[in-house]
Amino acid sequence: MPTSLHDRHISAQILSGLDGKNWRLADYQKRGGYSALKKILENKITPEAIIAELKASALRGRGGAGFPTGLKWSFMPRQFPGQKYLVCNSDEGEPGTFKDRDILRYNPHLLIEGMIIGGYAMGISVGYNYVHGEIWDAYERFEEALEEARAAGFLGDNILGSGFTFHLHGVHGYGAYICGEETALLESLEGKKGLPRFKPPFPASYGLYGKPTTINNTETFAAVPWIILNGGEAFLKIGKPNNGGTKIFSISGDVERPDNYEIPLGTPFAKLLELAGGMRGGKKLKAVIPGGSSAPVLPGATMMQTDMDYDSIAKAGSMLGSGAVIVMDETRCMVKSLLRLSYFYFEESCGQCTPCREGTGWMYRVVHRIEHGQGRLEDLDLLNSVADNIQGRTICALGDAAAMPVRAFIKHYRDEFIHHIEHKSCLVPTYV
Ligand SMILES: Cc1cc2nc3c(=O)[nH]c(=O)nc-3n(C[C@H](O)[C@H](O)[C@H](O)COP(=O)(O)O)c2cc1C
Ligand code: SF4
Repeated sequence: MPTSLHDRHISAQILSGLDGKNWRLADYQKRGGYSALKKILENKITPEAIIAELKASALRGRGGAGFPTGLKWSFMPRQFPGQKYLVCNSDEGEPGTFKDRDILRYNPHLLIEGMIIGGYAMGISVGYNYVHGEIWDAYERFEEALEEARAAGFLGDNILGSGFTFHLHGVHGYGAYICGEETALLESLEGKKGLPRFKPPFPASYGLYGKPTTINNTETFAAVPWIILNGGEAFLKIGKPNNGGTKIFSISGDVERPDNYEIPLGTPFAKLLELAGGMRGGKKLKAVIPGGSSAPVLPGATMMQTDMDYDSIAKAGSMLGSGAVIVMDETRCMVKSLLRLSYFYFEESCGQCTPCREGTGWMYRVVHRIEHGQGRLEDLDLLNSVADNIQGRTICALGDAAAMPVRAFIKHYRDEFIHHIEHKSCLVPTYV
């Protein structure tokens, strides 16, 4: 049986079994909190051994790209003589994603412990957690947890008498989606406008204030203490090869119980849908966006045959992304859905590169005219061509994120677009 927020079985226990009332340091310690850090410090476990354990766990970054965390940590030049930084990305602005704010609300010390271990493993003494600007309560809770950790000697100079120093600070962000892109986040942390940087250089060599920096997602750090306590192999076994551990899926849309569900990677989508109470009102499943708004939409029938892990979703033609699963039933108009998404990316483009700045506007306007009965059949080719001219030609991946949904909606639901153009009305009865 997989695990959910309200159901504590085998899992990395990031959210499982928690209800928002047991987040304090004393509660966290009652369930074994900070024992991974103590294990490392008391046994003088080497940074190399920690990174080897992460590699064995097949933990992949939970922020979207699924990059192997152990490998990322091994890029940090440990012997760099100056300041190095550790940054947590709690910006979480992707439509459909709402897991990181719950980690901050329900289990903030788990994130703090994961970050301290990260600092120790990479020889870093200063960290920041950048929290989305529109989520005030989660930011406040994180600050309270930081105070508790400092008072108990888990943060600061000479942690638990080990000689290791790590200072961690919370930063309340500015509420722009683009500030979740790691280099825009660094710019924003430096007090500048959140504009993505050209890469390379990557943050591991030129990050915050030009110093070597490692950035990971909130859920990624939160998975680390369990791996240290139980071993990388055990974490890997919860999931499947190349897809270690549990993952939090934020399910929203037309299901009975939208919520966060922490389940092993590789669980069939059908099982996840069942955990979320099935389709709302017993309606038929039409489509699923499996990994946040940037992930290409897939037909419901495909998803019912697919497992929830990075490789299976990629094979099915989409991305696991941040694990935000948007479920759409038979009453949803795909043209209207794409219009909403296109508007979001048009609004959120930072405007630095021409294909993204101009292209997102064009895609929005063309989908808008199709939705409003003024489209032409050539518009479908035009949309694909604009998407082609954005994808892979921009400074950051927001351009790709805007282009991919357009192509997928047209590929899978072309008949609905054609009906809008030819009949100036919607194929879906609800919206006629
Ligand atoms: C437009 C855009 C927005 C992003 N937003 C987030 C975000 O809110 N949270 C996050 O962790 N990663 C986000 N990312 C991915 C980050 O750039 C980065 O890959 C991630 O924080 C790395 O952490 P991980 O390796 O633990 O996944 C975003 C990327 C793009 C292109
Ligand atoms: S792709 Fe878009 S969001 Fe990213 S840097 Fe270029 S204009 Fe800005």
